Amino acid sequence: KMRVIFVANVEVEAMDHAVALARKAGEMVREALQNERSIMCKSSSVDLVTQTDQKVEQLIVSSVKEKFPTHSFIGEESVAAGQPCVLTNNPTWIVDPVDGTTNFVHGYPFVAVSIAFAVNKELEFGVVYSCLEDKMYTARKGKGAFCNGQPLQVSDQKEINQSIIATEFGSNREPEVVDKIFSTMRNILCLPVHGMRGVGTAATNMCLVASGCVEAYYEIGIHCWDVAAGAVIVSEAGGLLMDVDGGPLDLMSRRVLAANNKTIAERIIKEIEVFKPTRDDAPMDK
Ligand code: IPD
Repeated sequence: KMRVIFVANVEVEAMDHAVALARKAGEMVREALQNERSIMCKSSSVDLVTQTDQKVEQLIVSSVKEKFPTHSFIGEESVAAGQPCVLTNNPTWIVDPVDGTTNFVHGYPFVAVSIAFAVNKELEFGVVYSCLEDKMYTARKGKGAFCNGQPLQVSDQKEINQSIIATEFGSNREPEVVDKIFSTMRNILCLPVHGMRGVGTAATNMCLVASGCVEAYYEIGIHCWDVAAGAVIVSEAGGLLMDVDGGPLDLMSRRVLAANNKTIAERIIKEIEVFKPTRDDAPMDK
């Protein structure tokens, strides 16, 4: 019994710390938006990273290491710098310092800081700070989801043709992949749905599902740090998470479907042209 109480306290402390860090990170993003945006490319000319991504991640890593020295860390920029992307049973922080880097570079007004925490490979809490809207989304397993302290609930819509579905184009520009993305979008649009959207950050798209203004969000090509925090927020708002083929969500598979309910999820799954990007936890080339 003592152990359970101890673990729960660590999680509460970690979550408070995550919220404080997300707020601080958001301030850095807002300031950088006014001043400098030095742009570099990662896997391709459309996969961008800026000094702000790196600085914000450093702030989060160093602060977590100081406060929770035994915890592990998976961060977008640490992985880009060669750190392994493997989820173990150890308490692990999964962080995207700037989700929506392309938006950030262009001043397109949706940028989020995403921080999730997993223990024994199970997600325990998620914090997404949509920093240009000043919306702090938080959720802890079994305790509900909130935006700026107000409870969130997914939409109760069951009719696909009265729904809005969110997705993104991603950063893969291979024509065969782009064809699949467009074919899926065409299928879904023609159901027909009320509309399709995408704000340029996976984490924020998921928070929009949790808020009830879009019924579902799916994407193939995301990374674990884009969706880990949003996954807790969606499920605590009453929604579902799964793989785009209807199987259970696999955080490392780079595929996600978040939906308000099973009816909508199953309807969308029928229309998705599934493909398999290289897993986040695939061994790295030496
Ligand atoms: C990206 C955003 C984008 C999604 C990409 C992600 P980043 O994350 O979430 O909406 O389409 O798949 O990689 O690179 O801006 O952190």
